[in-house]
Amino acid sequence: MNTTAKLGLKTARDEVLIMTLQGHILEQQARYPQASGTFSWILSALSISAKIIADKVRRARLENVLGSVGTENVQGEMQQKLDVLANEVLLGTLGGREGVAIVASEENEEPVILREDGEGIPRYCVLFDPLDGSSNLDVCGGVGTIFSILAHNGRAARAQDSLLQPGFKQVAAGYVLYGSSTVFVLTIGKGVDMFVLDPGIGAFMRVERHLTIPDGNKTYSVNEGNRKTFPDGFQRYLDWAQSNGYSSRYAGAMVADVHRILLKGGVFLYPATKKAPEGKLRLMYEANPMAMIIEQAGGKAFAAPGQRVMDIQPTAIHQRTPVILGATDQVALVLAHLEKT
Ligand code: AHG
Ligand code: MN
Ligand code: MN
Repeated sequence: MNTTAKLGLKTARDEVLIMTLQGHILEQQARYPQASGTFSWILSALSISAKIIADKVRRARLENVLGSVGTENVQGEMQQKLDVLANEVLLGTLGGREGVAIVASEENEEPVILREDGEGIPRYCVLFDPLDGSSNLDVCGGVGTIFSILAHNGRAARAQDSLLQPGFKQVAAGYVLYGSSTVFVLTIGKGVDMFVLDPGIGAFMRVERHLTIPDGNKTYSVNEGNRKTFPDGFQRYLDWAQSNGYSSRYAGAMVADVHRILLKGGVFLYPATKKAPEGKLRLMYEANPMAMIIEQAGGKAFAAPGQRVMDIQPTAIHQRTPVILGATDQVALVLAHLEKT
């Protein structure tokens, strides 16, 4: 009997075939015999990017790449050195993939048009937040990468118009959490699967299939420092939650907060504030991909009562939106307080 078995523990791999992210992608591709494979190559570029960024994040202090570069991005936020490095990694890996038509990043004001349509090859647009929660870096907190994949519309009047599609049209979405381990969470529209980087062999191993967000977790996640400038409904919800035994958890990195909610339930809120009247989070590469993951895991994602995040018709690549997402039961309780007058 091996040690794991003696301790009565199950390894992540006991009940499943040993499956890497790469194997998983090929397995999915095999279901579509007509598939050209270009989409699989994009996912593989994201997997390689995640390994490179994970390595850079872990070595950041040793290689003196913490802190800011002294410039602001298009959002008016101070760029960290690792924001820039992670962006370069993603542009570098995706740029070499034949199937990528356009990339758009939090760190680039304009989308990068790589290829126009051609030769009947299906092409895609990839949007990403290269490093989410980057202000956590200096203190060894969790950070992440978020990505959204849309089909490229070669008939759009301007190439970048092909990017402005509502979230329900996403072909795939996911995130990577660089935490105590490196976790890759992916949906291609058929549930949510989770992979953990095995540093010993350098591969993401599949550890969960078809994740479902549990109901019944009385936990909210919001920056309460902004509470005084939230719309009234959020004040009512927080008063109610605090009188009803709720706990508060807030990592300051959306990836870390959403990952906790995916596994444990609860609700994540980033309402409009005085400082950010449209909300702070970016629709195209933060809210939409997270909304797709959450909904594919049985949860809900709204911008306001009656306004599903993924139904918003975007008008600008860097537009912002308020966000209310998480377990279906907990989101319903928030919406009920917003709807009261
Ligand atoms: P980024 O580091 O990509 O700019 O994103 C930070 C985002 C998000 O990760 C997090 O949920 C939120 O900003 C935190 O904002 P506050 O510091 O205003 O709470
Ligand atoms: Mn972010
Ligand atoms: Mn970022």
